[in-house]
This record gives sequence, C-alpha cells and structure tokens, in this order.
Amino acid sequence: MSKVAFITGTTRGIGLELTKILLPKKYHVIATGRETKKSKGLSSLKSDYPNALTLIDLDVTDDEEISNLKSKLQGMQQIDLLINNAGIFAADDNQILEKIDSESTLKTFMVNTMGPLKVTQTLLPYLKKSKTPLVVNITSQMGSIDDNKMGRYYGYRMSKSALNMMTKSFSVDYPDIISIVMHPGWVQTDMGGKQAPVSPQDSAKGIVAVIENLKRKDSGKFYDFRGETLPW
Ligand SMILES: NC(=O)c1ccc[n+]([C@@H]2O[C@H](COP(=O)([O-])OP(=O)(O)OC[C@H]3O[C@@H](n4cnc5c(N)ncnc54)[C@H](OP(=O)(O)O)[C@@H]3O)[C@@H](O)[C@H]2O)c1
Repeated sequence: MSKVAFITGTTRGIGLELTKILLPKKYHVIATGRETKKSKGLSSLKSDYPNALTLIDLDVTDDEEISNLKSKLQGMQQIDLLINNAGIFAADDNQILEKIDSESTLKTFMVNTMGPLKVTQTLLPYLKKSKTPLVVNITSQMGSIDDNKMGRYYGYRMSKSALNMMTKSFSVDYPDIISIVMHPGWVQTDMGGKQAPVSPQDSAKGIVAVIENLKRKDSGKFYDFRGETLPW
C-alpha cells in the first residue's frame, strides 16, 4: 500500500516541489492550497498522476475549511506524512519595530503558527492510524533564537520560533509520531527571491532525503535541508 502525504501550501514554491518529488516515490499526495485549480504546476501534476494526487482547497487560516477537511478525506484510512509548509513573510510590515502593526503580525502568526497547529490537531486521528507517522513543520533559521545575530523581522521570526515550540511540545506529547522542524534553506521562490542560493528542487530533494532517514530518536529536533541540526 502506498504511503499518504498531506502537504499545505502546494500551489507554488517549496510545497509544489515537495509534491513533485513525492509522487514518483509512490506516495499518494494530498496537495492542498488556497486555490489549487489556479496553480499551473498542480494542474500539470494532476494530469500526470490522476489517481495518486488529490487536490483540496485549504486556507490554513480558515477554521471552517479546516473543520470540513474530514469530510473531504472520506475513504482515507491514514496519513503517514504531514508537511505543514504554507507560510508567509510579511517583510515590510514586520522588519523594524517602528513599523510593526498588530494586524500584519497576527496574520503572520495565523498562517505560520496557528495554521500548522490547527491542521495537525485535525489530522491527528489519521496520523495515529499510520504505522510510521511523521510530521514535518517547515520553519526557518530565522526562527532560531540562538542564531539571531541580525535582529529585525519581528513577526516572521516570532511566528517560526513559536512553531518550533509547538513542534517540541507535540514531540513530547505524541512520542509515537516523529515530528521535527525543518529549515528549507534560503530558497529561490517568491518568498526567498531570485538572489537565494538554493533552488526549490534542491531544497525539496534535501528535505525528502532527510525525512526518509528519520528515526524515533530524531523526533523533536530542528534540522535543515542538508540534514544538519540547528540551534534553537
Ligand atoms: N524561501 C525561503 O528562502 C524560505 C526560507 C526559510 C523558510 N521558508 C519557509 O518555507 C515555506 C514555503 O515557502 P516558499 O519559499 O515556498 O514560499 P512561497 O513561494 O511564497 O509559497 C508559499 C506557499 O504558501 C501558501 N500559502 C500562503 N498563505 C496560505 C494560507 N493562508 N493557506 C494556505 N496556503 C497558504 C501559498 O499559497 P498561495 O499561492 O495561495 O499564496 C504558497 O503556496 C514557508 O513556510 C516559509 O516560511 C522559506
């Protein structure tokens, strides 16, 4: 039986590349995004993998869409791999203290922190049914408190530090589910920009290679896409 992966934020960027890599590895991928039908990348994958790819519209900040997930997953026995990838970087509003506004900072938290929390909470019964359950929360090195030498970027940094803490608690509370936070590198996506040194393909390939080798003892750790552990 093929493994089932559930990924958020797959319309573009790293989430789309993760979907592209997992499908030929015989995963059944449930690729979610705010408007999956508008994503050319997902449409083309759907024609190549009509049975192995399920597309579900999911805004991770929309409580109603999250509660409707179970009805959309009817017939699905288990989820083996959950990748909470959807994220935003509200650079202009969160860069310097003087410019921060609550609305933009809270929106960043809603997507980057509450989104993964709510999606994981909803999918927990499916993860518990897997023999090899794995939760990968895509964080950022910018969420590392130890590594913060440059300051600024309050909203984004805080949202990812909080995601790291959520993952740590989850790994303690659910020892049968391997859960980690993963820094994907500085990646050439809409978020990372053209000057980023890592291609989305290399980032996604690295992430998958790391998660394929995870053991139970690795749960609750902070990794990057090359398999290095990062400081909290
Ligand atoms: N790129 C980097 O250098 C870098 C570095 C460190 C960490 N990361 C993290 O890596 C993850 C992926 O980033 P990326 O570089 O691929 O960014 P991206 O190219 O901007 O793509 C972000 C994805 O998240 C989706 N998304 C945004 N808000 C959403 C919401 N409310 N509900 C569902 N999906 C939503 C977007 O969907 P729409 O198309 O609908 O907007 C898009 O599919 C993020 O968590 C990011 O923080 C990236």
